[in-house]
Amino acid sequence: MTAIIIDGKAIAEGLRKQIAEEVSGLKNKPGLAVVLVGEDPASQVYVRNKAKMTAEVGMQSFEHILPVDTSERALIRLVEQLNNNPAVQGILVQLPLPKHISENAVIEAIAPEKDVDGFHVVNSGKLATGQEGLVPCTPLGCIILLKQTLGDLSGKHAVVIGRSNIVGKPMAALLLKENCTVTVVHSKTPNPEKISAQADIVVAAIGKPRFVKKEWVKPGACVIDVGINRDENNKLCGDVDFASVSEIAGAITPVPGGVGPMTIACLLKNTLTAYKQQMSK
Ligand code: GUN
Repeated sequence: MTAIIIDGKAIAEGLRKQIAEEVSGLKNKPGLAVVLVGEDPASQVYVRNKAKMTAEVGMQSFEHILPVDTSERALIRLVEQLNNNPAVQGILVQLPLPKHISENAVIEAIAPEKDVDGFHVVNSGKLATGQEGLVPCTPLGCIILLKQTLGDLSGKHAVVIGRSNIVGKPMAALLLKENCTVTVVHSKTPNPEKISAQADIVVAAIGKPRFVKKEWVKPGACVIDVGINRDENNKLCGDVDFASVSEIAGAITPVPGGVGPMTIACLLKNTLTAYKQQMSK
């Protein structure tokens, strides 16, 4: 079997087009503030892309680039100003932050209704208890790709590889909400490949280049690769060994062009959701 390649780039473009159409009918432009502390090159690329895509869908982009030695207090003060700014409906603080700043303290300072990353405990608590809230962008993008590929996910066995707060944990919660049977495997799980090989859906989010091999995947399974890594030759690659896994999977996301473009599209979707919620109050 040769897997269907899930075209995240095209699906993300479609989603952004839909968002742009809805935004063009609004009286005021939704505003998204993105805060970057320091000069991490990967973060600089993400932030630049976010600003470009925000403008492309007709939203207003506010960029705050702060020096690496910015204090936690100063950063929290900026977040509080953005909380109180009526032109801003979405706030994103790019992670990772420099070591002297507590990420938790900064995330908890963001008003939950403007937390378009869905990282605030109010939003993660809502997700965990099945209430409506803002949902982390990458897992949300993965769910959209899965539903477009498989239709109803009800009753499917999903294995999530990795347990981070940004991807693994919210991914598991979203799959449960879709009525999947969910297993999370991680670095302390014995024989994770045996568990993964039973899954209808595999979501790989571990941050290790080409870690998931053919033996981890049941023939015909749908494989979602969240990883963005550089291999020993500095070539971009995912957490899944695409060459071997695509021989047996039913469907698979490529890297690049799979989950990545969906994350930014979902950030814009969350910003529009946050705007509509704030305008209806
Ligand atoms: N760093 C890596 N992924 C993310 C993300 O989804 N949001 C933020 N704020 N930072 C990140």
